[in-house]
Amino acid sequence: MVKVNSQGHLTIGGCDALTLAKEFGTPLYVYDVGQIRKQFRQLHRAFAQTGLKYAISYASKAFSVKAIDQVVAQEHGHLDVVSAGELMTAVAAGFPMKNISFHGNNKTPAELELALKQHVGTIIIDNFYELELLAQLLDNKNTRVNVMLRLAPGISAHTHEYIQTGQVDSKFGFDLASGQAEKALQLVLANPHLNLLGYHAHIGSQIMAVDGFTALVKKMVQLANTWYEKYGYQPQVLNFGGGFGIKYTAEDKPLEPAAFVSSMAKTLKDEIANTSLKLPAVWIEPGRSIVGEAGYSLYTIGARKEIPGVRTYLSVDGGMGDNIRPALYQAQYRAVLANNPLGKIHETVTIAGRYCESGDILIEKQELPVNAPGDILAVLATGAYGYSMASNYNRVGRPAVVFAEDGQAKLVVKRENSSDLTRLDLDYE
Ligand code: LLP
Repeated sequence: MVKVNSQGHLTIGGCDALTLAKEFGTPLYVYDVGQIRKQFRQLHRAFAQTGLKYAISYASKAFSVKAIDQVVAQEHGHLDVVSAGELMTAVAAGFPMKNISFHGNNKTPAELELALKQHVGTIIIDNFYELELLAQLLDNKNTRVNVMLRLAPGISAHTHEYIQTGQVDSKFGFDLASGQAEKALQLVLANPHLNLLGYHAHIGSQIMAVDGFTALVKKMVQLANTWYEKYGYQPQVLNFGGGFGIKYTAEDKPLEPAAFVSSMAKTLKDEIANTSLKLPAVWIEPGRSIVGEAGYSLYTIGARKEIPGVRTYLSVDGGMGDNIRPALYQAQYRAVLANNPLGKIHETVTIAGRYCESGDILIEKQELPVNAPGDILAVLATGAYGYSMASNYNRVGRPAVVFAEDGQAKLVVKRENSSDLTRLDLDYE
């Protein structure tokens, strides 16, 4: 969301974007921390109204650094991790391990061992290989570990549509139709070291409609009930994953994440009422919707290339190294001129990155007021899967990250400099 101060400059978390760019340099990721807290609080309120037990487990793949893990803990969120790196980030942040779920379709033996050593709250088992590894690791130990089974639910959703595929072609989770999921259930129930909390499924990302989620709730409840009748096991938790969509451009019309919660809760209660199951707790795993719109990328405008009758390229000092999403997914973004975000539109330009690749285009068509080299451009809603997917392509260091809240700005990740870039290199002389 674009907020402007009395000088007409863009503000983020109450800080003037031009001052931030000057103080910390560009490219720069800036997060409006109040916006992140707001997302959590809205979800907490929505769940409170349902009366359900619940957990909001932030999917840290969207943006994993110590500072965000600390904000998540402050906002009573749980945390999803998918690697030793994300787990150790949470450890370094002092995040309560009992509130962590460990995901991933190919957790290594070392990662599973680390998860056990760190007493991670829940391991979400994805496949038979992992189940076997975990059973081996726990064999001689006198412990019991909380696990969930990740199911491939045969439902996938993308933006406004969802499809019921029956048997989904996915690398994640146990397949239902072929009986693999049921086999996994039998193995887990038979293992005294594994305490099955319930079932998990994730249907997609950047989802703009509730029907995929309500279909998932129905399917999971029916399945849970069938298995209850067969095995006498009933889940304490159903985890419906993440995927709530956000607004990148004016064309995106996301629902409030709270709307997903209330629809899912209503469907859950209705469906459970038709079974002999008790109401389970509901866990969700939002990533993008927590941090996406809170994040801004600040760049300095540099070279301008006008090709008469074709287009004008404005190059900025970042690009695909700090935001791969346009190149990778044709993701659309919107930008404003930080010194004049509401200014009269003067031209339409293409925002190009600085990397040596023609595909390094951040925004194909961007309307801007009169601008000049040295001006600061702010790309909006870059908070999810920006920093977390950043690279050092062209041996360019990754930008710094600043958290802004109530007019105070704090550096939470330093900018990578050239010695950082050669830090791991060894000589060959
Ligand atoms: N839970 C599970 C099991 C997931 O696989 C994901 C995302 C999430 C939660 C969080 O989904 P979210 O609420 O953030 O949509 N790099 C891609 C997104 C990949 C998402 C992978 N899984 C992008 O930049 O759009």
